[in-house]
Amino acid sequence: MNSGVFLWTLLVIADGPKAIIGLDQNPNTDLKTPDLITKYGYPVEAHKVVTEDGYILEMHRIPFGRYEDRRSARLSKNPILLQHGLAGSSADWVLTGPGKALAYMLADEGYDVWLGNNRGNLYSRHHRELLSTNRTFWDFSFHELGIYDLPAMIDYILEVTSRYKLLYIGHSQGTTQFWVMTSTRPEYNDKVSLAVGLAPAAYTSHMRGPVTQLAKLTYFGVWVGEKFGYPEFGSRSPWGKFVGNLVCHGGAPTQFLCSNILFLIAGFSQGELDAGNLTVIIGHVPAGASWKQFVHFGQGFINPGHFRAFDYGENNDKNLKLYNSLIPPDYQLEKISTPIALYSSDNDWLATPEDVDLLRAKLRNIVVDYKVEGRVFNHYDFLWGNSAPESLYEPIIRLLRKYR
Ligand SMILES: *[C@@H]1O[C@H](CO)[C@@H](O)[C@H](O)[C@H]1NC(C)=O
Ligand SMILES: *[C@@H]1O[C@H](CO)[C@@H](O)[C@H](O)[C@H]1NC(C)=O
Repeated sequence: MNSGVFLWTLLVIADGPKAIIGLDQNPNTDLKTPDLITKYGYPVEAHKVVTEDGYILEMHRIPFGRYEDRRSARLSKNPILLQHGLAGSSADWVLTGPGKALAYMLADEGYDVWLGNNRGNLYSRHHRELLSTNRTFWDFSFHELGIYDLPAMIDYILEVTSRYKLLYIGHSQGTTQFWVMTSTRPEYNDKVSLAVGLAPAAYTSHMRGPVTQLAKLTYFGVWVGEKFGYPEFGSRSPWGKFVGNLVCHGGAPTQFLCSNILFLIAGFSQGELDAGNLTVIIGHVPAGASWKQFVHFGQGFINPGHFRAFDYGENNDKNLKLYNSLIPPDYQLEKISTPIALYSSDNDWLATPEDVDLLRAKLRNIVVDYKVEGRVFNHYDFLWGNSAPESLYEPIIRLLRKYR
């Protein structure tokens, strides 16, 4: 290791990536989602939702656009729910600011915008009985996000807005939990008039990048989790930084990104990301999750062709007890009847074209199937890419008009 890299590593360990790129200069880095929204002149509300199994989720709502009159603005708006991906939060949809971030575009377009927060992230760390310091709190994967969190959020929105249906946009795991919900609790199909899937994730056997090295440890992760409890995947945890530094070496100009585990997992393309926005993004992600979610995705990597419930391993009678079978059951994707719009990319390391093909083959009601071609647009560019507003959000907004 040369001395520059050594010094850099020391800095990151001592002070996080903030030390290197002067993150502290952008005040947006430390603002919570509601404060960010308020700062840009939009109305915002926070709502608490309790799931059937006791988790207390905080949702953020932008009920109308920036230029609307407060009194008339509330009349007959179509609710739309935006659901973040793995280790993300409601902030993901507003980080790049007005004119660029999807949540603001939708609010200005006349939608009643709801931003979900799954259990375990920065905004949803409470439970009726469990403390988040108790390992039992962290015993969940995307399965629970699909059968509990998403239904609770949808029912809450429909009740508050007195509607029968809403529109849905999910990114990555935000689509995974939608597939879980609509296949396991099919009555929810009718509560969504259109589901837009950005970087849709279900099958994961073709994942690319350094994360595939971690995925090989999946069943070790199951063993640890079952024996000692599943640990929290903290927001900007020291462990994440350590792994980042371990895997990324060399002197590339984007080196510092390796200290943020999410970019390590998803890849990074300089062409699409604005440096000013990047500092803000790094301040907000990762926003917290359970390691069991990563382990569950890892199982999809190890078992090609399967998108199925959590596997506790053949030496553990938990599979038998839960599923009445040694092998967990596949999610019945053919039960999904909600109209689906898929937006995927050639250069996505996590929702790869091969795995999206597998998903596409199972879904029966695809109304739009759009692929971003080329070697630039990656997993996070669906949220933060410079070309996303024009190439994706505008066509999506035109599509939504037909389903409201
Ligand atoms: C994101 O980048 C754009 C373009 O440089 C800039 O105008 C905007 O203020 C940035 N947004 C935030 C929230 O920093
Ligand atoms: C964690 O929660 C479980 C289930 O409620 C309880 O049995 C256990 O005693 C708790 N552990 C701690 C350390 O509080």
